[in-house]
Amino acid sequence: MTVNTAAAAAYLIAALLFIRALAGLSKHESARAGNYFGIGGMAIALVATVVLAAHDGINTLGAVLLVVCVLIGATIGLYGAKIVEMTGIPELIALFHSFVGLAAVLVGWDGYLGVERKPFGAEALSFKGVGTYGIHHAEVFIGVFIGAVTFTGSIIAFLKLSARMKSTPLMLPARNWLNLGALAAFAGLTTWFVIQPQLGLLVIVTLLALVLGLHLVASIGGGDMPVVVSMLNSYSGWAAAASGFLLNNDLLIVTGALVGSSGAYLSYIMCEAMNRSFISVIAGGFGIEAPSGAQQDYGDYREVKAEETAELLAEAKSVIITPGYGMAVAQAQHGVAELTSMLRARGTEVRFGIHPVAGRLPGHMNVLLAEAKVPYDIVLEMDEINDDFPETDVVLVIGANDTVNPAAMDDPTSPIAGMPVLHVWESRQVIIFKRSMASGYAGVQNPLFFRENSAMQFGDAKSSVMDIIAALKESGGHQTGGAQAVAVPAGS
Ligand code: TAP
Repeated sequence: MTVNTAAAAAYLIAALLFIRALAGLSKHESARAGNYFGIGGMAIALVATVVLAAHDGINTLGAVLLVVCVLIGATIGLYGAKIVEMTGIPELIALFHSFVGLAAVLVGWDGYLGVERKPFGAEALSFKGVGTYGIHHAEVFIGVFIGAVTFTGSIIAFLKLSARMKSTPLMLPARNWLNLGALAAFAGLTTWFVIQPQLGLLVIVTLLALVLGLHLVASIGGGDMPVVVSMLNSYSGWAAAASGFLLNNDLLIVTGALVGSSGAYLSYIMCEAMNRSFISVIAGGFGIEAPSGAQQDYGDYREVKAEETAELLAEAKSVIITPGYGMAVAQAQHGVAELTSMLRARGTEVRFGIHPVAGRLPGHMNVLLAEAKVPYDIVLEMDEINDDFPETDVVLVIGANDTVNPAAMDDPTSPIAGMPVLHVWESRQVIIFKRSMASGYAGVQNPLFFRENSAMQFGDAKSSVMDIIAALKESGGHQTGGAQAVAVPAGS
């Protein structure tokens, strides 16, 4: 067997492992195995690529550069993965997407210069044949365009997700026309470049795509950011596939297409779950009006202490916990799991209601609850549990805000209007765990906090849960009277 045949076989095995990885990651039970398939596929792909490069007669400088780059990349990757908090993973992913975009731009530029600097450019494409010279330039142009949009779009997503930039949408006048104009210019420039491949055109399309990426993601508001993250995931896949065509690497084409299409499908199902128009979101918030920004006065809210919440829980027959981003920040999942098993041991029915975009990345809450060993069968999706709130005694909203905001249903002017939410307010009593009256990711007030059957338990979610566990242990299971909510003036 030649080295080329062996590498092709290794690429095929790696591609199959990536498909197994995607399939595994779609269910909690098989997610860990899915990760191992992915790691295995990537290891095989890396080894095969290095062997192939060595076989193709890589020079000493090339070999040294290859090793140095792999070592630098591996060190940064390992360090980043080691220090990152669970809540920082979406930002890290956004940053990684930006690297894929940048790599695609560099590969595209190299593809252009590598051909153009030869006296007879078409000769450099002997593997493709002279007739495909135009196709090569189209690949360069499209690869650079997708890569550059992914690069700057991902950097804006990183800044928004890490709260280094405000999550409110940038509303430039005629912004939809700016996006459409940029796409039309790209189509025209591509045709021109295929006919006359000039360096100036490549510079123009690179700049155009860099600005378009900035604008597309800056125009999308807080509530739609989850879709943007998966959309950039998809773009990074297409950028990698474009690089695969340029480098004549089948595995990169297959892997890029897998990431591109699965990211696009994820964006689509997230749009369905969030009641958002797919086209509107991928077109940089096309057709979305600027939010009014008016803050309403919803009146007074009530405050409870851990002992009172513990009394309520001791009396409850059914409890639903709806976790959100604050549970991840506080790392309260282990305490929540302990509270759950304590209540279940007393005969209380405890279930979890998971909103599709709770937290900051798809499946964020499921991962945390699985880590804390909460049984899968009591963790239900929003649609599975939303009708059960009226028969529920107590709902514990642990660090969630936008995902339980009734304004999404009641207020058509709200920036999150139309987004499906967990109907927690339909239960008998709602206790909201957070540190202040601050708004959630989308930056909108939450009228839930001011409802008659709501009460706030202020403090870090982990400490609040541990205080309740201590109070329940202290009461030793004796049931006493209900919670005495304390009236507190709004805004205090
Ligand atoms: P959010 O609306 O972001 O609200 C989280 C709440 O947790 C905040 O109001 C905050 O209030 C509280 N909190 C923060 N740290 C806390 C701590 N240590 N202890 C207790 N509470 C704490 O959360 P959500 O309901 O999960 O909604 C997710 C939002 O993120 C949605 O708008 C969604 O569109 C967006 N988003 C989601 C994703 C994905 S893919 N899931 C990606 C990007 C954006 P205090 O500051 O007062 O404590």
